[in-house]
Amino acid sequence: MTDVPLVLADGIVRRDASRGQTLLQLTQFALHAGDRVAITGPSGSGKSVFLRALALLDPLDAGCIQWHGASVARAAIPR
Ligand SMILES: Nc1ncnc2c1ncn2[C@@H]1O[C@H](COP(=O)(O)OP(=O)(O)OP(=O)(O)O)[C@@H](O)[C@H]1O
Ligand SMILES: [Mg+2]
Repeated sequence: MTDVPLVLADGIVRRDASRGQTLLQLTQFALHAGDRVAITGPSGSGKSVFLRALALLDPLDAGCIQWHGASVARAAIPR
């Protein structure tokens, strides 16, 4: 049995493009089959920033998103 996550955020970073401010510090996150994950934190702590990055709705400044072990390009998301 392999241990490839369904979704992997591998060293992702997000910055505000206009000011260069870091919105999401270097983050490693894996979701495995059967996992249930809750993301908690106060308003403005970055939950939506993280989830938008995970869904490749916003451009990453570092790292990549993998789906079943394969890197996904942002351009492929509409498909
Ligand atoms: N595109 C953006 N450009 C600049 N700053 C942003 C951008 N998106 C989010 N931020 C800032 O990043 C921080 C985290 O915001 P985020 O919306 O991720 O918080 P949240 O944890 O989802 O809050 P809430 O619980 O209110 O939904 C906030 O300071 C927000 O203003
Ligand atoms: Mg939010």
